[in-house]
Amino acid sequence: MEFLDILLLLLVILFLKFWWRRWSTTGGGPRNLPPGPPGWPIVGNLFQVILQRRPFMYVVQDLRKTYGPIFTMKMGQKTMVILTGRELIHEALVQRGALFASRPAESPTRLVFSLGKCAINSAEYGPLWRALRRNFAAEVVSPARVKQCGWVRKWAIDNHMGLIKDQAQDKGYVEVMSQCRLTICSVIICICFGAKLPQELIKGIESVLKQVMLMTLPKLPDFLPVLTTLVARGQLRRAKELRKRQMEILGPLVRARKAFVESGGRADSSPLHMASPVGAAYVDSLMGLDPPGRPGGLGEEELVTLCSEVINAGTDTSATAIEWALLHLVVDQRVQQKLYEEIVDVVGKNGIINEDDLEKMVYLKAIIKETLRRHPPSHFLLSHAATDDTVLGGYTIPKDINLEIYTAWLTQDPTLWPDPEAFRPERFLPGEEGYEVDWTGNRGVNMLPFGAGRRICPAWNLGTLHVGLLLARMVQAFRWVPISGSPPDPTETFAFTMVMKNPLKAGILPRT
Ligand code: HEM
Repeated sequence: MEFLDILLLLLVILFLKFWWRRWSTTGGGPRNLPPGPPGWPIVGNLFQVILQRRPFMYVVQDLRKTYGPIFTMKMGQKTMVILTGRELIHEALVQRGALFASRPAESPTRLVFSLGKCAINSAEYGPLWRALRRNFAAEVVSPARVKQCGWVRKWAIDNHMGLIKDQAQDKGYVEVMSQCRLTICSVIICICFGAKLPQELIKGIESVLKQVMLMTLPKLPDFLPVLTTLVARGQLRRAKELRKRQMEILGPLVRARKAFVESGGRADSSPLHMASPVGAAYVDSLMGLDPPGRPGGLGEEELVTLCSEVINAGTDTSATAIEWALLHLVVDQRVQQKLYEEIVDVVGKNGIINEDDLEKMVYLKAIIKETLRRHPPSHFLLSHAATDDTVLGGYTIPKDINLEIYTAWLTQDPTLWPDPEAFRPERFLPGEEGYEVDWTGNRGVNMLPFGAGRRICPAWNLGTLHVGLLLARMVQAFRWVPISGSPPDPTETFAFTMVMKNPLKAGILPRT
């Protein structure tokens, strides 16, 4: 070994020693980051987390006990500040919301699917995000548009009722999650493209988009791009192949809708059954949009990306909530009976449940809230980032780090929610602890299933409508009961949302 090599080696060892000492005492990076668990050289806390072999949220739950409401984790080359404290979350999302409303840099894999952050959920806080979100708010979730699309839900839920009946006859039980996913997916696809699609095509789209979600979950190369170039290259190749399949299945829908719109709404202009009039589908509004930063408007690739994000964001979250709610209705027949009586009171035993009727169903609303409190579909919000270097809780938050907001803790806090493990919808009725709670977080954060502030889920009203309508229709038509050999099992696991490890299988008995 030559003298220069030895000198270089010594310098590297010295640097690593200094870096590790600094990291293990301060959380790494700029001096005033919040403290956090000491890490290893180069990889920080990454392998400590991986070696635990359990979802990240459980690691965070434990670290919270030691490090409190704000702490730093160094995950390879990525620095994360984790927020778990109620006051700090409110400060970051609501009081100083604009400052923490951006999104961090994305991995190369995610950039393939977001087309360089051209999606509402991934766009940085700025003019592109504002234009996309404003368009979504007006064209998909405004009260007028939701009302106009009521027929889509009626069509899909009528089909759903037939499908669950058939499945129960064939198998003796209903696979709640997969049936509800399919129904909600068909609703959102129809909202996006205005077309009533055959079941097989919906299943194909659902399967490709599920693969996209799994592919974009964080993987080792996302944390250590320097050390894992070879692995990352393989991952990127697979991502591009999947993106091609996503374009192959959704591209024709965009083209079919375009032909329909350009023909002025002629039924024979498109190979698909276009059921929404011109202007009523989400993709129609995107065709005419010219958002800042995307010169020349949005092309087919962008339209596929923007519709995919809505289908993905709206399907699993709502289906997860319905499955958890039904688990509790199956386990606690008293709650189910009380809900059934409310439905009969409002519309009668065989009356048609209109969307407006849900407003009168106070107990149904309490069940939805209790479900989202006890089983928030996501334990973290999407990653946030500051728009500029700033200070929070007395610590520096640089603009280029991930701010991870762990909201599930709020609903497990016994000082806010007595007996937090119990499923008790009554806590949301007048006079009880949940009655005044604002679940959109503006007036303080006791539960945040949709986030809060600038980046709050823009479709929380639509999501709860899907959950409420499906639950009401399913409980009006059938009594849901456990089946022998596969009792409801509330063990959780992480699969993009927090789902049941053993998906719910429930029997149905016609109401007499
Ligand atoms: C029960 C149902 C739902 C739950 C629990 C839920 C929850 C969430 C959460 C926690 C976020 C992240 C907020 C943040 O990062 O601060 C989010 C964002 C988002 N959600 Fe939902 N969501 C639901 C339904 C829906 C539906 C039905 C759609 C679309 C049809 C949708 C579209 C979106 C979009 C586009 C974003 C990104 C917003 C942005 O970054 O500005 N969600 N949602």
